[in-house]
Amino acid sequence: MKTVVITGSARGFGFACAKEFRKNAFNVVLSDINAEKLQESAKELEKIESPAKVTSVVCDVTNANDIIKLVDAAIKEFGRIDIFVNNAGVNQPDKPICELTSDEIKFLINVDLMGTINGSRIAFNKMKDQGFGQIYNIEGYGSNDAMMTGLTLYGTSKCAVTYFTQALAKESADLTKGVVKVCRLTPGIMITDFITSANGGKTKIELPEKTKKIYNILGDRPETIAKFLVPRMIKNNKNNNKIVWLSNRRAFAKFISYMFKKRNYFN
Ligand SMILES: NC(=O)c1ccc[n+]([C@@H]2O[C@H](COP(=O)([O-])OP(=O)(O)OC[C@H]3O[C@@H](n4cnc5c(N)ncnc54)[C@H](O)[C@@H]3O)[C@@H](O)[C@H]2O)c1
Repeated sequence: MKTVVITGSARGFGFACAKEFRKNAFNVVLSDINAEKLQESAKELEKIESPAKVTSVVCDVTNANDIIKLVDAAIKEFGRIDIFVNNAGVNQPDKPICELTSDEIKFLINVDLMGTINGSRIAFNKMKDQGFGQIYNIEGYGSNDAMMTGLTLYGTSKCAVTYFTQALAKESADLTKGVVKVCRLTPGIMITDFITSANGGKTKIELPEKTKKIYNILGDRPETIAKFLVPRMIKNNKNNNKIVWLSNRRAFAKFISYMFKKRNYFN
């Protein structure tokens, strides 16, 4: 039976993906820094009927030893890791970069960039040894070089995640002949707690009406997006693949459909 490991999967997109993988008979290793929520979500996940198993491991992705323990726990429990998703992420306070403190900057870079680099590196080495596997990193605002006041730090980290993932895919082509597939997910805008909290939940983000409108037009629940992305991850056999939910075509269709049916995620 195949196994997926997902960081930051106690809620939001990570948890939505976990549910889809379980429906597809994958063993799921749920992991998160939030131990209480992780336990709750593991119980909820087990309620989905499946021949596969669920296990949960508390893991702070800013700590490389935690990630090593996560990977080791997955191998000990299930004997293999088919897919490793570096999903854990945090948003930035809605402020220009010059108003952020160096602690706020360090915090975000440690989770969003260092967490992804360490998760990729540790999963890659394990997959290289086992001779197969896929790593998925999550793109976000900034991955396509977009810029906006208030998102410079987050955008910088996601732009770097995109570069890093493509570069690691190239290394994998050289080192493993692409047997280890290093890929990206482009989920678009997801209506999760992420959009209204920063600094790991310590800072609340008040969304301006203009931003809420954009989210209402282009956003989706994470479950909708996971339902689209997970089957494509399972079928994927290409190194350096990028699986996109919010394509230009879909964004255009969402603008048109919004003219006829208004969505409101913020009631
Ligand atoms: N929400 C969006 O609009 C959006 C858009 C594009 C990309 N993304 C990316 O998708 C991913 C998931 O976002 P989400 O919207 O589900 O966010 P979320 O806030 O709902 O969930 C993130 C999870 O990560 C966990 N986490 C935070 N710091 C951690 C750490 N140090 N170690 C381990 N776990 C940690 C949190 O506890 C939480 O369970 C992130 O990488 C985010 O950057 C989000």
